[in-house]
Amino acid sequence: MSNGKTVLLIGASRGLGLGLAGELARRGWQVIATARDPSKATELTALAASTGRIEIEKLDVDDVGQLEALAARLASRPLDVLFVNAGISGPRDQSVADLSRVDVAQVMWTNALSPVRIAGRLQPQVAAGGTVAFMSSLLGSIAGNTSGGFELYRISKASLNMLARGFAATAGKDKNLVVLNLHPGWVRTDMGGPQAPVGVEESVRGLADVLEARRDAGHHYLDYQGRELPW
Ligand SMILES: NC(=O)c1ccc[n+]([C@@H]2O[C@H](COP(=O)([O-])OP(=O)(O)OC[C@H]3O[C@@H](n4cnc5c(N)ncnc54)[C@H](OP(=O)(O)O)[C@@H]3O)[C@@H](O)[C@H]2O)c1
Repeated sequence: MSNGKTVLLIGASRGLGLGLAGELARRGWQVIATARDPSKATELTALAASTGRIEIEKLDVDDVGQLEALAARLASRPLDVLFVNAGISGPRDQSVADLSRVDVAQVMWTNALSPVRIAGRLQPQVAAGGTVAFMSSLLGSIAGNTSGGFELYRISKASLNMLARGFAATAGKDKNLVVLNLHPGWVRTDMGGPQAPVGVEESVRGLADVLEARRDAGHHYLDYQGRELPW
């Protein structure tokens, strides 16, 4: 049964985004799910057909023209939740000494700048008191970095956390939004790899529980089990 709520989920072609689209649709949400190339998002297309609650839109998160086109297409659609999930891990070798400017620019752009630009552009459609969620990572925690490694990915998610803080303090504050930076756990996806301890189903069930439970305005950094993380 429908719960009467709509979520716009950015980056749902595979992995956690695909899992979240299914989990939220099964919970009665109307899901507007984006894919960079909908013609290749075969699993999302099948999920849309089987649930009847998923609409598929096109968005490369780094493409400002596509963002404008999406905003125009969705102009009349009020949103209860905007969830920006898309992200990349970057090159395998992330030591500061070896990173290239091109890699740094790409990962910072996709993981930090683009999500918050998307939130800024689409927030007028998010209901007052609604939720804007960003898929962050525990690796974005400065306080939690006790081992080093994954340097570029870490700074991209730490930057996402910082930019989301600014969003929460401005547009978020004006509209009493719940702004969530979420850690999904270390999950078995293309990014997380086969050795990750958490499955997609377990992670997205937890993330959906957190989304539905946290209704307090402000900025929160939480894992998929609802635990507060150190910034
Ligand atoms: N898996 C983990 O253990 C883990 C842990 C902490 C945080 N996270 C975060 O969780 C999110 C999802 O990760 P995942 O594990 O599901 O990764 P994944 O399996 O690699 O999927 C990444 C998703 O992001 C999309 N994406 C990447 N760049 C994009 C772009 N420029 N425009 C539009 N979509 C784009 C991909 O679309 P395409 O199919 O078009 O490439 C895909 O849908 C990411 O933000 C990641 O950093 C994951």
